[in-house]
Amino acid sequence: MYSEKVMDHFQHPRNMGEIENPSGVGTVGNAKCGDIMRIYLDIDENQIIRDVKFKTFGCGAAVATSSMATELVKGKSVNEALKVTNKAVMEALDGLPPVKVHCSLLAEESIHAALWDYAQKNGIQIEGLKPPKKDIHEDE
Ligand code: FES
Repeated sequence: MYSEKVMDHFQHPRNMGEIENPSGVGTVGNAKCGDIMRIYLDIDENQIIRDVKFKTFGCGAAVATSSMATELVKGKSVNEALKVTNKAVMEALDGLPPVKVHCSLLAEESIHAALWDYAQKNGIQIEGLKPPKKDIHEDE
């Protein structure tokens, strides 16, 4: 049912934890399944994501997508990170079962929420970035 990559990222999650005094932090939940994801970003003066960590209270696919999403945005600029979609995360994991697609959306939205927080704190605008959703359930 799950690809080897999903199992690997679930069993050995990358970048799990938190960052003290993050440049941006975003928390998004899905009221339907009750899962919650939080992303911490450490962004340098050139708007490059120096470090990223996550905490996920959720299913195995949510843990695996958080882990992969953090890997995909690490070292990227904030503009590049904004383009990391849930589809890109799923592809990098060699796919997810249809009932688990929403878990990858949680990863995309929590990265956007953390970028939003960073932009708000620094009074900057990131083109194409929309205000974060607290709950992604309505979109499904
Ligand atoms: Fe809800 Fe996976 S079941 S995030």
